[in-house]
Amino acid sequence: EKGGWPSFMKKEISEEPEAVANTLRGRVHEGAVTLHELDGVAEVLQGVNRVIVLGCGTAAYAGMVGKYAVEKWARVPVDVELSHEFRYRDPVLDERTLVVSVSQSGETMDTLMAVRYAREQGARTLSICNTQGATIPRESDAVLYTHAGPEVAVASTKAFVAQVTALYLLGLHLAGLRGTLDAAGIAHQMAELEAVPAKIQSVVETASGRIAELAHWMSDTQSVLFLGRHVGFPVALEGALKLKELAYIHAEGFAAGELKHGPIALIEPGQIVFVVVPSPRDPSSLHKKVVSNIQEIRARGARVIAIAELGDVAVVPFADEVIRIPLAAPFFEPLLAVVPLHIFGMELATAKGLDVDQPRNLAKSVTVE
Ligand code: BG6
Repeated sequence: EKGGWPSFMKKEISEEPEAVANTLRGRVHEGAVTLHELDGVAEVLQGVNRVIVLGCGTAAYAGMVGKYAVEKWARVPVDVELSHEFRYRDPVLDERTLVVSVSQSGETMDTLMAVRYAREQGARTLSICNTQGATIPRESDAVLYTHAGPEVAVASTKAFVAQVTALYLLGLHLAGLRGTLDAAGIAHQMAELEAVPAKIQSVVETASGRIAELAHWMSDTQSVLFLGRHVGFPVALEGALKLKELAYIHAEGFAAGELKHGPIALIEPGQIVFVVVPSPRDPSSLHKKVVSNIQEIRARGARVIAIAELGDVAVVPFADEVIRIPLAAPFFEPLLAVVPLHIFGMELATAKGLDVDQPRNLAKSVTVE
């Protein structure tokens, strides 16, 4: 039940902190990851030499975020593929390939068929799913449930942050099994992950009002672009998807580094661009590069809304608006930066008078191919 909320989506966005907390619950002990549900496949996981993550829509974007972390921590190659593309290209699979499906409903036909195909080809299958006893987990070798609670709004929000959390748990578990991170390294990442729910809560509390105002004055907007880099890239894709799904506005997400290879031609005066800005504390030069992207699009008249870490002053002179997120290590920023984008999609749809829970033409669980 909506319990006094104006929409399921608003309620579900407000539940993003607990979606992460509940997915972690009982799976961390003194800094170590304990995933007893994967005990039966420990040998399989130890022998894995390749991971393929499958999903559709928001689930696939969660997979893309997960790829960066799992590869980094567990030093195993990870590919992410849309379920419906996967089995039509004769992929190379064997018993050392772990196919990780990501699905909120566990019933998405495209993903189910891809999982069946992977099994037939001899791959091992692990399901990350939010629905107990759904078909995909039943047909997989192992399952890691997300505990986001029932998600009613058609467009996925709290399930996304729970899926990323589950992929991170899996990445740290694999890192432990493969010996690519020591106990201290795992404990360090786990501490960062356990701090995420409170940080999401603060984003919901501090950003909601301003984003509602922005959405209100943007309600006639025809097109919005989203830029991000590294783990911020799938966040940009997710921000764009939400706007399409909920507000029926043409939206595109790009990797910021790709800007000069094409998308910059789209920038004309008044074009609204959301930019997910990496932390200036990150030792890579990505922050500087993204700030210079902002300067480039600003010089061409774009209106820039930056999602940037608290205390990042470098973006201020170049952005029309800065939405702040708390400090977090780079891998955990997506779990924070995605929240304002979820709120933005919902608020823009609301400003247009649309039904945010039941967008036109969409179904919560697509059980046809
Ligand atoms: C789409 C939904 O049809 O399916 C999206 O509209 C969702 O919100 C996607 O992300 C995948 O669904 P599931 O249940 O497999 O995660």
